Amino acid sequence: MVRFLQGLGKKNRDHSMADIDRSAVPQHVAVIMDGNGRWAKKRGLPRIAGHHAGMKAVKRITIAADAIGVKALTLYAFSTENWSRPAEEVDFLMRLPQEFLKLELQELVEKNVQVRMTGWREGLPEHTLAAFDEAEEKTKDNTGLILNFALNYGSRLEIVEAVRSVARDVESGILSPDDISESLFSSRLLTADLPDPDLLIRTSGELRLSNFMLWQIAYTEFWFSSLFWPEFSELDFYDAIREYQRRTRRYGGLK
Ligand code: FPP
Repeated sequence: MVRFLQGLGKKNRDHSMADIDRSAVPQHVAVIMDGNGRWAKKRGLPRIAGHHAGMKAVKRITIAADAIGVKALTLYAFSTENWSRPAEEVDFLMRLPQEFLKLELQELVEKNVQVRMTGWREGLPEHTLAAFDEAEEKTKDNTGLILNFALNYGSRLEIVEAVRSVARDVESGILSPDDISESLFSSRLLTADLPDPDLLIRTSGELRLSNFMLWQIAYTEFWFSSLFWPEFSELDFYDAIREYQRRTRRYGGLK
């Protein structure tokens, strides 16, 4: 417990959370954690040092989200397109979940956090899968924050797979084309048991979605930060939450 809470000045945290309306906290926050490489380059460090610093930001933002009652936090940790990076970098990224969970799993268990992984298992190294399997098993009955790592995830492939699954059911007569609804389609996605994100955060100043949850973000509020992910703090996270709370969500209506 103590280790997981380290590094946050309690005074700052209370102050930054003070004016957050607890009755209007986004249920599901999704984050595109971008800028690790540039953060490292700016300091003359190898890219992997940026990813390692990014892991620390994962810890900070998990604590921050949990503290205000966010129900689910999805972190885009590795896309289906990221395999094209140099082997050394891919290898490092695949080892980070292990390192993170080795350090933090016990605290996550104690804090009632449920760890999940969303993405394709095929192609992921055994050691990465084993780390997530252990974490998922040990936290499966936890009822607090869902900490969801999007790993080997790509939204277009997810949609194509969902289409295939529906098409197979139509072919075999389980479904008729008229049975296909938005909610049925959502139930065939990897995120079937999560609400759509209410808030999407992307760091590093890039203004794009990079194949992340394209179906799920139809009515999501976006918040972009120019900070690189390793420098993104709980105070920045709470800025995003406050801005979210100032928005009026209309879902296409006139409210
Ligand atoms: C994008 O930044 C970031 C990634 C592809 C990896 C994100 C992974 C982490 C933040 C660590 C995850 C931690 C755990 C525990 C799984 P980039 O490298 O593309 O940055 P750049 O655009 O500046 O080059």
